[in-house]
Amino acid sequence: MKILVTGGAGFIGSAVVRHAIAQGHRVVNLDALTYAACLDNVASVADHPDYAFVQANIRDRATLDNVLATHAPDAVMHLAAESHVDRSIDGPSAFIETNITGTYTLLEATRAYWTTQGKPDHFRFHHVSTDEVFGSLGATGLFTEDSPYDPRSPYSASKAASDHLVRAWAETYGLPVVLSNCSNNYGPFHFPEKLVPVVILNALAGKPIPIYGAGENVRDWLYVEDHAEALLAVLAKGAQGRSYNIGGHNEVRNIDLVRMICALLDEMRPGAAPYANLIEFVTDRPGHDARYAIDASRIGDELGWVPSVTLEEGLRKTVAWYLENETWWRALQARPGVGARLGLGA
Ligand SMILES: NC(=O)c1ccc[n+]([C@@H]2O[C@H](COP(=O)([O-])OP(=O)(O)OC[C@H]3O[C@@H](n4cnc5c(N)ncnc54)[C@H](O)[C@@H]3O)[C@@H](O)[C@H]2O)c1
Repeated sequence: MKILVTGGAGFIGSAVVRHAIAQGHRVVNLDALTYAACLDNVASVADHPDYAFVQANIRDRATLDNVLATHAPDAVMHLAAESHVDRSIDGPSAFIETNITGTYTLLEATRAYWTTQGKPDHFRFHHVSTDEVFGSLGATGLFTEDSPYDPRSPYSASKAASDHLVRAWAETYGLPVVLSNCSNNYGPFHFPEKLVPVVILNALAGKPIPIYGAGENVRDWLYVEDHAEALLAVLAKGAQGRSYNIGGHNEVRNIDLVRMICALLDEMRPGAAPYANLIEFVTDRPGHDARYAIDASRIGDELGWVPSVTLEEGLRKTVAWYLENETWWRALQARPGVGARLGLGA
């Protein structure tokens, strides 16, 4: 299959690109190369004959038309987005422009291309989204594909809007779509402003490890390579118009996750004192959702996907990767805003 991947120089998109090439697909990676992108993430496939890269913005309709006509993909996997909740609190406009207007522009370009192709049934527009669109859970319960939308941050509201647009384009114009909503990812190539790399890199630097509020917020963590495999399974086998929740069955409080990472570092890169001594509780994020947890039974039952690693195994691989790839993360730490406290609200 020939796949146009948007956002393929980011964290999850690059994993999708690497896995798609390994599975024998042809890939066109379209990415604007924002602050969150890094072409080193796809360096392992950059010279592959089945790989092409186009630097473009998903709001640039003329370029999208040209790329679709030139490369004639069988599917679009849409991952390009502004993705950091804290940045969405400080500056929502980029989230509205990329996640909503950008998705709209990509849908229209794809619809025009699909129409010129004779509206083939086998074509797919796969919209990659987040469990954050469902809002915040109490102590019990799980998000299913039928959970009501209740986004609470500018990021999750913009992703919810994009999900609605994709469903509307399927209902109104018949565009063959699939959607997926995934829980928090972690793993190699995770941009160093997100929680897991912040913990690893602050610990290694002997800096305080910041935990928002009391660290009681619960997330369901999924290893990024497992997410990439899940996304390719949804693309290949997902039913037209259907959505799939993707999760790791790994519910854990932030404080416990941070302690797990510190314990791994104590073992893999022992310091003078336990790294957990560096933990510091800081002012919470406004509107910080209490708990996310995914019921991933549909993708398991219908598509046969299950995560391949436990949280402990995935974190061990992740810590090892950061220990071995200092050049990668040092370069990204120099980018604007990285390492600063963001998202406190005005
Ligand atoms: N990170 C998670 O835990 C998580 C969980 C569930 C879903 N998602 C979704 O998965 C997708 C990828 O997330 P990620 O963590 O890899 O994000 P990321 O921030 O690491 O990467 C986003 C990529 O999109 C590109 N991009 C941004 N704006 C663009 C634009 N206007 N035009 C073209 N390219 C643009 C960036 O350059 C970057 O390479 C997003 O849609 C996100 O909402 C993420």
